[in-house]
Amino acid sequence: MTQMHPTETAEQHAAFNARIARGEKIEPGDWMPAEYRRQLIRMISQHAHSEVVGMLPEGEWITRAPTLKRKTILIAKVQDEAGHGQYLYHAAETLGATRGEMLDALLSGKAKYSSIFNYPTHTWADVGMIGWLVDGAAIKNQTMLAGCSYGPYSRAMVRICSEETFHHKQGKEMIVQYAQGTPEQRQMAQDALNRWWWPALMMLGPHDADSPNTGALAGWGIKLKTNDEVRQEFINEHAPELLEAGLTIPDPDLHQDESGNWIHGPINWDEFWAVVKGQQGLNKERLGARQQAHDDGAWVREAMQAYAARQMGQAAD
Ligand code: ACO
Repeated sequence: MTQMHPTETAEQHAAFNARIARGEKIEPGDWMPAEYRRQLIRMISQHAHSEVVGMLPEGEWITRAPTLKRKTILIAKVQDEAGHGQYLYHAAETLGATRGEMLDALLSGKAKYSSIFNYPTHTWADVGMIGWLVDGAAIKNQTMLAGCSYGPYSRAMVRICSEETFHHKQGKEMIVQYAQGTPEQRQMAQDALNRWWWPALMMLGPHDADSPNTGALAGWGIKLKTNDEVRQEFINEHAPELLEAGLTIPDPDLHQDESGNWIHGPINWDEFWAVVKGQQGLNKERLGARQQAHDDGAWVREAMQAYAARQMGQAAD
């Protein structure tokens, strides 16, 4: 049973649900329940914030990339993430959210962004491991969202996923190379896996039993798979590949069951919530960097507004 706003009728909801059941895309001007709109704004804006904050842990390494080729790839990747943020902010704007409201929510700490970006990048291998694991997890989730019922979000996801696929491949290529390299390189790759494995599993969200939003999102065709289903797909693809690369997954309980699924040990959800709430990890530093970028960009916003006002004035003349 989904929430109904006092101004909405059961007939409106029934007609809307029938559209979802027929697999139709909902477009910006279409009637939609207020709660559908609210859920999408929450999710898409948090996703946009994640893309933009996600530039920070990797961006730190642009000046320290070991070769020109790696530096060029990393610059392109970080730039792609900024583009993903743009598509997603635009998708949320089609639902009536303004850029100013969304940025205020991020900078005031009201809106969430992905827990994964509150973890530090200690070595260059972390950059590769982010590509392989974090982008790998993001793709699993976002391939599912490419089929979601809201047209602008689903179309943004198609484009984002194709770019993320390159990010994933470059990370995997880098780590596989280090895992077969010198003892120091192998150790660096292993240490990075030890740091990123559990956070990558956590970033796909709490277990289904502890996920308050999944029911409504699944009912409306926004989430086509649950958090645990996406996590299982992620582990099934990545566990054998990491082992094949000669790395050790830091989970003594990890095993394959009779159906072929890789089963993980207990996840430390206390750590997850502490990181989400900013009690652990780099939340303060990440928001500080975003606030600084926002303040530094004030003159650009002012110049654009002045330019737009002049254009309008000329058009009126
Ligand atoms: N980091 C921070 N908060 C999280 C995370 C996470 N990794 N996972 C779940 N949460 C939050 C949810 O936002 C929700 O809080 P809210 O109601 O205050 O917004 C709460 O935990 C409970 O979780 P769920 O009910 O499971 O939330 P939901 O159904 O929205 O599922 C998920 C979470 C899977 C992240 C979903 O929102 C989603 O698919 N979002 C779009 C994709 C996205 O944002 N990806 C981020 C990474 S993108 C990248 O790597 C560049």
